[in-house]
Amino acid sequence: MNNFEYYNPTRIVFGKGAIANLERLVPATARVMLIYGGGSIKRNGVYAQVKAALGARAVVEFGGIEPNPAYESCLEAAELARREGVDFLLAAGGGSVVDATKLIAALVPFTGDDPWQLFVQRGVVMPVTALPFGAVLTLPATGSEMNPIAVISRRETREKRAFDSELIYPRFSILDPEVTFSLPPVQVRNGIVDTFVHVVEQYLTYPADAPLQDRQAEAVFLTLIEEGPKALAHPADYATRATLMWCATHGLNRMLACGVPTDFATHQIGHELTAEYGLVHAESLAVVLPALWRLRKAAKLQKLSQFARRVWGVDEADPEQAADQAIERTVAFFHAMGMPTRLQDYGINAEEAARVISTRLGTRALGERKDVTSDVAADILRQA
Ligand code: NZQ
Ligand code: ZN
Repeated sequence: MNNFEYYNPTRIVFGKGAIANLERLVPATARVMLIYGGGSIKRNGVYAQVKAALGARAVVEFGGIEPNPAYESCLEAAELARREGVDFLLAAGGGSVVDATKLIAALVPFTGDDPWQLFVQRGVVMPVTALPFGAVLTLPATGSEMNPIAVISRRETREKRAFDSELIYPRFSILDPEVTFSLPPVQVRNGIVDTFVHVVEQYLTYPADAPLQDRQAEAVFLTLIEEGPKALAHPADYATRATLMWCATHGLNRMLACGVPTDFATHQIGHELTAEYGLVHAESLAVVLPALWRLRKAAKLQKLSQFARRVWGVDEADPEQAADQAIERTVAFFHAMGMPTRLQDYGINAEEAARVISTRLGTRALGERKDVTSDVAADILRQA
């Protein structure tokens, strides 16, 4: 097992009626900015519950955060927060709203010249302080509710980038599975696939003598495979929704990454597909992952065949054939969730995507051994 350090200060408040806890979780004297998306929270009762729990606190609202949240909207929100003397932020929505809130928290006190450098020079230009914030999560998918990462899209330059900082962990996240009943099936599908791929990226590299982390990851896979179809067939089943919500948080609260190599190439190539062609986040992942596995099968053979045996129950002695079966079973699972896995399903020419995306990736080196260059990414997209 590799050396590691793990820190996670986010309080999780989980269950039916949990939004009422805002009353004690948000400081009584706070001047709050409530941040939300395109209005789903007004239709499913989340907004009313939040407002009731905030009681007499002063609340400024900023709605309209887009899916793939826009940098430009975050700048606008931070400006409003400064003007209004806001000292606590509250996100109510999916990963996009939570990520936007993280950036706004860092932007309000930011004194540097160009906040976009937080993304371009990730890890070098860092926020020195941030406003405290909490989240009411309405879409289980990204794990943003319990991690220090924000993924933001800059409309002006068509870039989609991430930054992270210990200062942008939510103080708390409220997870009430009942608020996910209103999700359309396509968002349920997206959440299952996004979670699945997060776990893949912390598991499917090469063995690192970490049997506990392996089995934790396999537990999430097996649970998603069992519960995903149930959530689509019985959308109002609380137990299933609760399980999926907790799976998504486990998928990317970074616990699975402790002491093991990680390979986030699928996400990084996927972000470029979203920025260039507008694929939804999970759609981009489902296109890249099977192609990446086929191309990098040799490098990942031990873990792919373990995945085949333990997760898919493949009884095949030859590791290559076991790996092939695991790839096909995963693709079939994505299809069963209603998720396409080919660029052509979106009318995108693979050869053109290979050229465009490899140019966008430039000199970035991805993967567990940093050997997924832009040329390798181009080959992956030709396969996709
Ligand atoms: O905007 P509203 O009206 O709220 O509607 C949203 C949005 O249209 C809707 N929705 C959310 N909760 C709902 C609901 N509709 C009905 N009932 C509910 N309970 O769903 C739509 C999609 O929401 P969005 O927040 O965009 O989805 P998701 O949670 O999948 O977030 C995707 C974003 O997160 C980033 C992605 O790149 C993408 O920008 N990610 C963030 C990560 C992180 N911070 O760690 C990691 C992930 O890998 C990912 O990159
Ligand atoms: Zn993701």
